[in-house]
Amino acid sequence: MIMSRIEARPDEDSVAVGSAPERLTENRAEDLTEDRAEDLTQRLTERLLTGLPAEAVLTDPDVTGSYANDMASFCEAGTPAVVVLPRTVEQVQHVMRTATDLRIPVVPQGARTGLSGAANASEGCIVLSLTKMDRILEISPVDRIAVVEPGVINATLSRAVNEHGLYYPPDPSSWEMCTIGGNIGTASGGLCCVKYGVTAEYVLGLDVVLADGRLMTTGRRTAKGVAGYDLTRLFVGSEGSLGIVVRATLALKPQPPQQLVLAAEFASGSAACDAVCRIMEGGHVPSLLELMDRTTVKAVNDMAHMGLPESTEALLLAAFDTHDPAADLAAVGALCEAAGATQVVPAEDAAESELLLQARRLSLTGLEAVKGTTMIDDVCVPRSRLAEMLEGVDRIAEKYRLTIGVVAHAGDGNTHPTVCFDASDPDESRRARESFDEIMALGLELGGTITGEHGVGVLKKEWLAREIGPVGIEMQRAVKTAFDPLGILNPGKLF
Ligand code: LAC
Ligand code: ZN
Repeated sequence: MIMSRIEARPDEDSVAVGSAPERLTENRAEDLTEDRAEDLTQRLTERLLTGLPAEAVLTDPDVTGSYANDMASFCEAGTPAVVVLPRTVEQVQHVMRTATDLRIPVVPQGARTGLSGAANASEGCIVLSLTKMDRILEISPVDRIAVVEPGVINATLSRAVNEHGLYYPPDPSSWEMCTIGGNIGTASGGLCCVKYGVTAEYVLGLDVVLADGRLMTTGRRTAKGVAGYDLTRLFVGSEGSLGIVVRATLALKPQPPQQLVLAAEFASGSAACDAVCRIMEGGHVPSLLELMDRTTVKAVNDMAHMGLPESTEALLLAAFDTHDPAADLAAVGALCEAAGATQVVPAEDAAESELLLQARRLSLTGLEAVKGTTMIDDVCVPRSRLAEMLEGVDRIAEKYRLTIGVVAHAGDGNTHPTVCFDASDPDESRRARESFDEIMALGLELGGTITGEHGVGVLKKEWLAREIGPVGIEMQRAVKTAFDPLGILNPGKLF
């Protein structure tokens, strides 16, 4: 294995606090010969084992290799030197001190359900998997908070707080698998964000292990609090590049009534977008407002035989979790009809509603089956420009002769144009990448952002720079350097 790192001087085993940091950068990284890499891996492993039990340090290449990727498997990824599975804050501190002393990159990981390669391994890195730190430490109905470790699965937390009559809203499609730590790292959204907002709005405070192993506490467990810079918010969406979240205090809501879903079929994407605009303009507050285009509907049917209507060009799903959802759905149904819906079908009960949501959640898996691989855009535009976005994606699909299914959190203007391609076909792969980029360019032209919820990772690095410009990048780098002067935390991600 060839490892890239800044080689520690043979006699140097620790970094003096306050000494000029030696930065780990691509320019200065050198490829080590196989012998020296093995020697370094051995030193690293021995050092890790002084503060971690043997079962928490994985070195078998067949095992460590399986930690190389998140779900953006087509993005570049290195081979980890070692995977660690700490169970305590002290163990995470030990890992970071070791990494700092030996100048080894660290890639934090949750359940690896991310879609931008942010959790992909760097060559020769320590993969720091937080999945074993999976305890719910506290649920307080009075303070309406939960305190959790980062490896808690989103759905586990949701169900646990439900038992107290509480609700943790952020619900990515991967909620049955993804971890709260990963949700914080990527600032996850989900289906209910149109009413309840995204992960950032629920993170009140954090415990973070810094690159050099110090423990920092940010934020609060109170309903209000404005003491100092909002470092909590800074960590949400920082993609593991600033520190390791080891504990989070999360805000909870009272559990709303069961939501009821309506499905509306449209003869064009722009008619469905018109309905979205009418619903939002009309002051309605749906708990979900999702769009699936014809390609997506067919892909879900082909995979899961759900019996969704394939003749429709766009299927809109709207839901309300109010005390009289049927009345709200009737009002929204009328708006859909005014926008030209060919059919409006409210679900009769919770079971039917759940089935529709399940179909929506299967969209990306269904689209992946079309050609074996997908590149999932995550462009978010102002709702008023949604129709232009969909029309533009159609033009791009035609130009590149590709299937691009669109599923969208329509109520947020957050689209997932999903480019289906055969990764073993170089020409098709090239066209897929070009179309993926052109979709982001279109999003920016329409006043949107390149990523509404999946993050930058390695996939959209170049596009982050385009979106925020050179001054923005310079300041982001300055923040990164303040937290991680050696550049050991998830290097090569974001910028
Ligand atoms: C979804 C994920 C891909 O919306 O964000 O299903
Ligand atoms: Zn999404």
